[in-house]
Amino acid sequence: ETVEWDPEQAGKGEYDHFMLKEIHEQPTALSQALEGRIDTQNGRIALADFDPGTFADIDSVQFIACGTSYHAALYGSLALKQAGVESTALLANEYSVSAPPVDDDTLVVAVTQSGETADTLNALRRAEAEGAMTVTVTNVVGSTAAREADEALFIRAGPEIGVAATKTFSSQAVMLTLLGQRIAADRHGDPPADLDTLLPELAAMPDALDDLLAETDAEAIAERYHNSRSYFFIGRGLGFPVALEGALKFKEITYEHAEGFASGELKHGPLALVTPDTPVFAIFTGQEDEKTLKNAEEAQTRGAPVVAVCPEDHRAVDVADAHLEIPETDADLAGLLANVQLQLVSYYAADLLDRPIDKPRNLAKSVTVE
Ligand code: AGP
Repeated sequence: ETVEWDPEQAGKGEYDHFMLKEIHEQPTALSQALEGRIDTQNGRIALADFDPGTFADIDSVQFIACGTSYHAALYGSLALKQAGVESTALLANEYSVSAPPVDDDTLVVAVTQSGETADTLNALRRAEAEGAMTVTVTNVVGSTAAREADEALFIRAGPEIGVAATKTFSSQAVMLTLLGQRIAADRHGDPPADLDTLLPELAAMPDALDDLLAETDAEAIAERYHNSRSYFFIGRGLGFPVALEGALKFKEITYEHAEGFASGELKHGPLALVTPDTPVFAIFTGQEDEKTLKNAEEAQTRGAPVVAVCPEDHRAVDVADAHLEIPETDADLAGLLANVQLQLVSYYAADLLDRPIDKPRNLAKSVTVE
């Protein structure tokens, strides 16, 4: 007697899709990423991946990446700026025409899950040829980017099968936050001032994600809004890359139109698109939330339903039409929790629309052409 055995189905375990499985793997992925890399007792970043003082002479940092990895890079770049180091995030496919000047005090950080993205490898090679110090932040040990950069930092997220990047975004953003703190410490000679408050919250991220995943209303929100005309995502500061990522994930797997904006940009054009048929997901990270709430209300006044992504006792909950709850955490990390709620909304909306979630049309997991 033989038993039918579908290895792909078996790999999904209890989940219908790899994407949902990988969303639920995020607490473990983050535990693995942080393992041995933060020292909460002594209030420092351990990160023995780099020798002491590796970044002491670095004057500025350029992050290069594509797609979801670019959104993680934007997140890391903003966090580094907030830690007092000059930095910018650039699309790798624009790098050859838009790269700022590079010298041997420039650090170029290639952020790439696969380590094989052609656009990112090209930009990395260009930066190396111009004399920059290079680091790759990747999930794949032995990948081309890991081999070619001066240094590699592995995010340890485990294999990601779904074409839509989920757990690797969270792991990249957390590792870039750590790397930024380490660069700032090497550069300034002292740990950044707010490290004492950040470290315990970083250590608590896997538990916070467990709580979020156990109680999410994402499926109900997807059910309520999945027949809309367009979907908008707004955020400010570290919420901005999350808005971009929320929209990319949504369009990638639902095939519906979605856009991410900096909250303050809505009134500079996109507000013309807002109607009762365009839900607005507003991300609150604790950075100038009052302004973001005002921007969300401007959309609501035009009839758009507002979904607030924020902690339970946030003022936005009373104003919004619906709420996706995130646990309280540091402003540097709140966006990562909001992003997981948005991943789930995209997933459930795509499922209701009967899309092939793990393999969206026209897309490949690793893009090895320019
Ligand atoms: C996002 O869900 C996509 N898979 C895509 O945007 C991806 O992040 C991009 O192609 C970059 O891939 P990489 O991280 O392997 O370089």
